[in-house]
Amino acid sequence: MQNLVREQPVYQPYDRQDWQKGYQSQPNEDQYWIEDIEGKIPSELQGTLFRNGPGLLDIHGTAIQHPFDGDGMVCAISFKEGRAYFRNRFVRTEGFVKEQQAKKILYRGVFGTKKPGNWLNNAFDLKFKNIANTNVIYWGEKLLALWEAAEPHRLDPHTLETLGLDYLDGILEPGDSFSAHPRIDRNCQLDGGKPCLVNFSIKVGLSSTITIYEFNPKGKLLRRHEHVIPGFSFIHDFAITPNYCIFFQNPVTYNPFPFVFGFRGAGECVKFQPDRPTRILVIPRTSPHQGVKILETQSGFVFHHANAFELEDKIHIDSVCYESLPEVETNVSYKEVDFDTLAPGQLWRFTLNLKDETVHKKLVESRCCEFPSTHPDKVGHPYRYLFLSAAHNLNGNAPQQAILKLDWKTQERQLWSFAPNGYVSEPIFVPQPNASSECEGWVITVVYDASRHRSDVVILDAQDLTKGPIAQLHLKQHIPYGLHGSWTSQCFAQK
Ligand code: CO
Repeated sequence: MQNLVREQPVYQPYDRQDWQKGYQSQPNEDQYWIEDIEGKIPSELQGTLFRNGPGLLDIHGTAIQHPFDGDGMVCAISFKEGRAYFRNRFVRTEGFVKEQQAKKILYRGVFGTKKPGNWLNNAFDLKFKNIANTNVIYWGEKLLALWEAAEPHRLDPHTLETLGLDYLDGILEPGDSFSAHPRIDRNCQLDGGKPCLVNFSIKVGLSSTITIYEFNPKGKLLRRHEHVIPGFSFIHDFAITPNYCIFFQNPVTYNPFPFVFGFRGAGECVKFQPDRPTRILVIPRTSPHQGVKILETQSGFVFHHANAFELEDKIHIDSVCYESLPEVETNVSYKEVDFDTLAPGQLWRFTLNLKDETVHKKLVESRCCEFPSTHPDKVGHPYRYLFLSAAHNLNGNAPQQAILKLDWKTQERQLWSFAPNGYVSEPIFVPQPNASSECEGWVITVVYDASRHRSDVVILDAQDLTKGPIAQLHLKQHIPYGLHGSWTSQCFAQK
């Protein structure tokens, strides 16, 4: 007899093969005025969106093990008088140039990419390829492609041509790291209200040394201080307030032996320790930078922080948190990932009480989300609106297909989904010139359209995402799923 009680199937808003196509390499470099546009580009939108991410997912036909190992390809979309100019170019890192000449993989990747041959061919080769693929910022009249484990590469902002490694006027030494997650304090109290850029680098071992750098708008160093923290650290991002830098030291251990002996990438040797607490490091930005506090909480794993701010003796910090670290599995393709078995990223608010050194945490948004973005003037300050990439469905883990707006004041959510064919990247909020409220402006994101195997630059009205795109700029090619980017009000269209 037929069983009449059936479970209601959950609508699956994406097709796995469609999603996988967004991980095809884009080996071509191009530049053109974007002509194929639905809707209208707002004429007040003037400036350049820079994006970075892995452009190659294979080296002459040999797949890399993980997208995080992919060579950095920078895209620039310049907006001017209602038109937009597109350009994409690979960062000519030493590794990219050598591998393209050799037509094969010459380096081991941090996330498991191996040189051809057996383990002996990889053992004791501890050289990393600086792949410059994580973020791109324009600061101090320099365009810098960032990758957290090594020095920045400087690019020409007009042509995206690679000018070479950049040591920030001698601040960095060869081999130094420089995080891919700088924060801009638009109104720095330490500098009379002028803007400054805050970033960090980490040297890891049995203990970790965190160095914090602050630069003025000309790129000159204002402050630098070093802190030795007990234990190994895997820290990708941080948050700032007017007085503090805040880091989450995720509960992980590191066993280097499989890496040293060539079986695994260094990133595959990081092991999440669910029974250990996350340690929250609160480091003063003000001189003499003493009185570092280390608070503890049970929190899972954090890659990205949305924002932090000080309020009545407390620090609030909003972060995308995973119940456990999504581990890189050896010999299983990242394209075959079973979303249902992995914990989704969810938005939490952590409240730090510096007096009694306690932490209170609260789940704010359970929908699977990532890549938080706010109004640039609100970095480090109380803020009302947050934009994130998110899954189409309310529950479960899935590819990011929607943009989510969260209003902290009313708790209202707005969502615009590009399902079933669209896959979004990090949303970037761009304020409207002379805006009178925090969400007057635009959210720009690059969306992979699997139905046409090409990408769109999409502009949404930040005041009302539910209206749908104001403009969809159809590119001539696809851009593989990217990582981070930034907006600058300077326009770098054709030179
Ligand atoms: Co990141």
